[in-house]
Amino acid sequence: MADKPTVYVTRRIPDAGIERLEEDYDVHVWEEKTPPSKEHIIETLADLEAEGLLCLLSDDIDGEVMDASPNLEVISTFSVGYDHIDMDAAAERDIPVGHTPGVLSETTADFAWSLLMTTARRTVEGQDYVLDGEWETWGPTLLTGPDVHHATLGVIGMGNIGTEVARRAAGFDMDVLYSDVEPNEDAEAELAEAGVDAQFVDQDELLAESDFVSLHVPLMDATHHLISESEFKQMKEEAILINTSRGPVVDPDALYTALEKDWITRAGLDVTEPEPLPADHELTDHVPEKLVVTPHIASASIQTRNKMARMAADNLAAGLAGNSLPNSAHQ
Ligand code: DGY
Repeated sequence: MADKPTVYVTRRIPDAGIERLEEDYDVHVWEEKTPPSKEHIIETLADLEAEGLLCLLSDDIDGEVMDASPNLEVISTFSVGYDHIDMDAAAERDIPVGHTPGVLSETTADFAWSLLMTTARRTVEGQDYVLDGEWETWGPTLLTGPDVHHATLGVIGMGNIGTEVARRAAGFDMDVLYSDVEPNEDAEAELAEAGVDAQFVDQDELLAESDFVSLHVPLMDATHHLISESEFKQMKEEAILINTSRGPVVDPDALYTALEKDWITRAGLDVTEPEPLPADHELTDHVPEKLVVTPHIASASIQTRNKMARMAADNLAAGLAGNSLPNSAHQ
């Protein structure tokens, strides 16, 4: 019997994915909590002469990595975003790349809303207040924040996740504005059925009019530091910024200044630049009064991470069988 193809997995993903892979492949998993270095990935792929690579968004996968194993046939990432993979290098080498779109959209949207509610209504500050022993009585102006209901939500990037974020605004009777490279008529129709009248506007208008601005764009040259000093200055002083997309979409120095100088009121970040955000990074000076920050967990529901694991395994299996990937990252 021919040897099973060898697969390198750069972190332990949920069993749903590992078990799927172990049925047919010789699976090697990096078991540490932190990612393997790029050098280690290169050495391992070379030693194993691996046919498949299943990676995470924290791995830097470029042409050098792709050339490490003479047998590499497919790359599958356990994420919807693939800005950590050099897609041109993969295309030049005819290596298909799979990702995990769709399955995490609603879960990520739920979390964007959780950050929105938390920052607006000052949940983290409230908990600190209790734990610090400051809660002596009910206070008429204690930890007041803006209403979410009937406010204006601005969604930058009306893809799958942006659409789910906008859909959830129906329950809060919000006005919804969105900007993107072009109008998304399918999303508008879908949202209209859900009772949300999403208006396509240019980004300047969105920034000027929105009480909450939520970012849902992929990271690419055009979106790097999309929100920087001039954009913060366009926003309302009462505005709250939510980022569950990629850290470098927001210029961290400009965000620090915007919070410092009250150009905006607050921000909720699940993604940061740099990532991970060191606990002593200057941005944390604003925690919790002006900033709530979480460690890139927007898609981290148990069900969604299981689905992502199965999807990543299915992409890898399709590539190793020489079939087209069910969820290809190539445009
Ligand atoms: C992704 O998949 O790209 C998210 O950022 C993490 O689930």
